[in-house]
Amino acid sequence: MKQKNYLVIGGTGGIGRAIVKELLQRTADEQSDTDTAHAKIYATYHITQPDFVADHLYWISMDVSDEDSIEQAIADIKQQTTHIDWVINCVGLLHTPHNQPEKALRQLETGFFLQNMQINALASLLTDNPAIFATISARVGSISDNRLGGWYSYRISKAALNMGMKNLSIEWRRSLKDVCVVVMQPGTVDTQLSSPFQGNVADENLFTPAYSAARLLAVLDSMSAAQSGGFVDWAGESIPW
Ligand SMILES: NC(=O)c1ccc[n+]([C@@H]2O[C@H](COP(=O)([O-])OP(=O)(O)OC[C@H]3O[C@@H](n4cnc5c(N)ncnc54)[C@H](OP(=O)(O)O)[C@@H]3O)[C@@H](O)[C@H]2O)c1
Repeated sequence: MKQKNYLVIGGTGGIGRAIVKELLQRTADEQSDTDTAHAKIYATYHITQPDFVADHLYWISMDVSDEDSIEQAIADIKQQTTHIDWVINCVGLLHTPHNQPEKALRQLETGFFLQNMQINALASLLTDNPAIFATISARVGSISDNRLGGWYSYRISKAALNMGMKNLSIEWRRSLKDVCVVVMQPGTVDTQLSSPFQGNVADENLFTPAYSAARLLAVLDSMSAAQSGGFVDWAGESIPW
């Protein structure tokens, strides 16, 4: 039996790293079966290569705001393997040392808005076609679920990501077989991205990265081309656009 190869984009973030760890655990269990060809897990880092190693884990440098860097990363991976089965994009931006999410329109700054669009929306559209292509989006990217307003750059960029992935699912359904493109809401997860905004989140609604990663991968396990074009949460429930 052949094992899957995985690419986790943003493998150093809170959720990305937990997904890498969960995949390592799963593939180590499967590899105790000696008839099975070994799985490979490729994970990208942005600035510093983590010292986190495993024999079938391969770290690749990738800055998703730099097209040359993306092309180089894809070329590096293609030198090592002929196919990737699952791509999971865990890169995202909500705040930086200089910018917090906007509470009101007057706080909107072009530079920060474009940075959100580049990191959150555009990066996912620059990839190759695997069997499953999941991008971590956010429930706040849902237009019909927007009751609180605010967070202009993040909300707009996640809504744009959702539209981009929906478009891609339609294009790939026509041109490729058995490809599933999904956008996913990971829950509210205890990472540096959410940490300034956890004040009103009840303990039971704040997930550990490990819990969210396990749930997201379980949802992806159940996905096939029939579910392509979906927007789902960590429990597999559909989220309205
Ligand atoms: N945490 C939550 O509650 C929550 C809720 C809803 C949705 N999400 C979404 O889940 C995803 C993961 O979030 P997280 O909570 O794990 O956040 P995180 O810990 O901040 O991870 C974000 C990752 O994105 C990477 N990144 C940012 N800019 C990059 C660039 N230009 N090139 C390459 N990598 C870049 C970061 O790397 P560096 O740090 O090295 O730049 C980091 O690995 C995001 O899409 C986020 O919007 C999270």
